[in-house]
Amino acid sequence: MNLEQILNFRRSVRVYDENKPINPEVVKHCIELATLAPTSSNMQLWEFYHITDKETLAKISKACFDQKAAKTAMEMVVFVTRQDLHRKRAKAVLEFEKTNIRTYSPPDRQQKRLKDRYLYYGKVMPFIYTRFFGILGFFRKMVSYSVGLFRPMMYQLSESDMRVVVHKTCGLAAQTFMIAMAEQGYDTCPMEGFDSRRVKNILKLPYGAEINMVISCGIRKGNEGIWGERFRVPFDEVYKRI
Ligand SMILES: Cc1cc2nc3c(=O)[nH]c(=O)nc-3n(C[C@H](O)[C@H](O)[C@H](O)COP(=O)(O)O)c2cc1C
Repeated sequence: MNLEQILNFRRSVRVYDENKPINPEVVKHCIELATLAPTSSNMQLWEFYHITDKETLAKISKACFDQKAAKTAMEMVVFVTRQDLHRKRAKAVLEFEKTNIRTYSPPDRQQKRLKDRYLYYGKVMPFIYTRFFGILGFFRKMVSYSVGLFRPMMYQLSESDMRVVVHKTCGLAAQTFMIAMAEQGYDTCPMEGFDSRRVKNILKLPYGAEINMVISCGIRKGNEGIWGERFRVPFDEVYKRI
C-alpha cells in the first residue's frame, strides 16, 4: 500500500477477529516507529505500554467500559504523557545535542550553539514544564503577557497549556503508530472512553503521568469490524486557502 492507500485503510475498528492473532513483535516495531513522530522541543514526554498479557487486557478493557473495540482487542497500547519527566528528558536531549554540535556544527559556531542549548534545555524547559498547583503557570502567563506588549510572544504557558502541548505531541505518536500498524495490515481503534484513574492504577503509573489514549489492536472481523462508511464533513467546509 502507498501512503494514500494506508490512510484509507486505517479505520477505527470496533470488533476484532479472535481467530486472527497479531504478532507482538510487529506491534512493538510499530511503537518504535511511533517514536519518530515530531515532538515539541524534542522533549519526548511520553511512554508506551504495550499490553499483551490476557489478564491485564481484560482489566484495561473493563476500565474502557468494556466497549467492543476494547473487549475484542488482541493487544492494546496505552499512550501515556510524562510531563513529570521533563528534567530527565531535557538532560538527555542536551547531552545528545552537545555531541551533535561538536560533530556537525562549524567550529566558529559551536560555542554559541552550545550556549543556546544550555539555556534552552537547562533553563527554559524546566521553567515552562514545571507544575505547582497552577501557580507557576499563572506566573508564566503574567511574564509572557508583559513581554508580549513589546514583541511577539508565546502565551500558551499556563500549566494546562503545557498539558495540551504534551498531549498533542503524544497524539502525533499515536497517529504515527496507527499508520504504521495499517501498513502491516493491522487494525486499531483510538479510545478516550476510559476511566483514567483505573488505567493508571492497573499500569502502576505515578501521579504525574496521564493517559493520552488507549489504542486497541487486532484484525477487523469481516463486515462487523467497522461501522459502515466513513463520514467526513465536506472538505470545502474545513479547507481555507489564504
Ligand atoms: C482522541 C480519540 C478518541 C476516540 N475515542 C473513541 C472511543 O472511546 N471509542 C470508539 O469506539 N472510538 C473512539 N474514537 C474513534 C473515532 O470515533 C473515529 O476516529 C471517528 O469516528 C472517525 O472514524 P475513522 O477513525 O474510522 O476514520 C476516538 C478517536 C480519537 C481520535
